Amino acid sequence: MKTLANVFLGLFIFKAVLAAPPTAAINYDTDTYEVDLEELDSIYDYDGSLSIDQGEIEIGTVLPVVNRPIISPEHVPEEEEEAEESTPKLIDGSSPQGPLSPGVLVPETSGDISTCILCTCIRTTVYCDDHNLDSVPPLPRETTHVYLRFNRITKINKNDFANLNKLQKLDLTSNIIEAIDEDAFRSLSTLNELILRDNRLRQLPELPNTLNVIDVSHNRLGRKGIKHEAFKDMNDLHLLYLTDNSLDHIPIPLPDSLQALHLQDNNIQEMHEDTFCKMKDFSYSRRALEDIRLDGNPINLSKTPQAFMCLPRIPVGRLV
Ligand SMILES: *[C@@H]1O[C@H](CO)[C@@H](O)[C@H](O)[C@H]1NC(C)=O
Repeated sequence: MKTLANVFLGLFIFKAVLAAPPTAAINYDTDTYEVDLEELDSIYDYDGSLSIDQGEIEIGTVLPVVNRPIISPEHVPEEEEEAEESTPKLIDGSSPQGPLSPGVLVPETSGDISTCILCTCIRTTVYCDDHNLDSVPPLPRETTHVYLRFNRITKINKNDFANLNKLQKLDLTSNIIEAIDEDAFRSLSTLNELILRDNRLRQLPELPNTLNVIDVSHNRLGRKGIKHEAFKDMNDLHLLYLTDNSLDHIPIPLPDSLQALHLQDNNIQEMHEDTFCKMKDFSYSRRALEDIRLDGNPINLSKTPQAFMCLPRIPVGRLV
């Protein structure tokens, strides 16, 4: 009975220690702190997988020696779990461990760590959503993904993303962008996703042909905002979202790779029979394009029945 009481008392103390502030309870291997930036750069690779063995990061709890014997093996995982929970995973201003916490990798070796203190950087992704920014902050050169949603950015300048030649995704949803410098995206030779939803954009700048996803829905492109043959050479373009832009035409030619074309809530009144298909080549089929939205436009799709012959599905829109 006395032994049992001891075990319970021990467990109680154990829990109390776990509840103590993590800085007091966790003791990191000092070696982990002393990894310099050069080494940090070499222990992660850019396809997103960590090459560091997670097991190398030791997380131990400093408990008073008197409690040690009471921790039976089945309690150890619980201890690690709790310790890990209190380990900050993100680099931001509030991180008590500073920017070099074990398990967190800084995406830059020289330059704009400052943005990773203001925002949050995980590996090569920069999360800068909802920070009241009125311009694009300086970004680490190794950045692959950038989230700048829900800020107050008004303009994208020529140099904002210059030299980010590893950038794959740029998300600027819900800002108040009115203009983008014509060459602002020119050097982005690996950009796959460009999200500009919910802005005030009147003109699309020059876009890289590497894009898979373009979302410019809910902007003000109007009649002249999209250049002639703007998407023609984008051979990997899958999704093109242009909803709610006061467009008065469908931006042809569209690449064969296209899977979804969202044009709802625009001002498109007519369509050519060659918009999607080829009237001179009846064997042509546009297999990939399964999702065309033309609802919310003053267009009567019944007028051009030939225009959908090569498509796997008739567009969504008014047919009467
Ligand atoms: C739509 O086009 C079809 C075929 O030309 C026509 O019969 C129909 O009246 C048109 N509907 C409207 C509302 O204009």
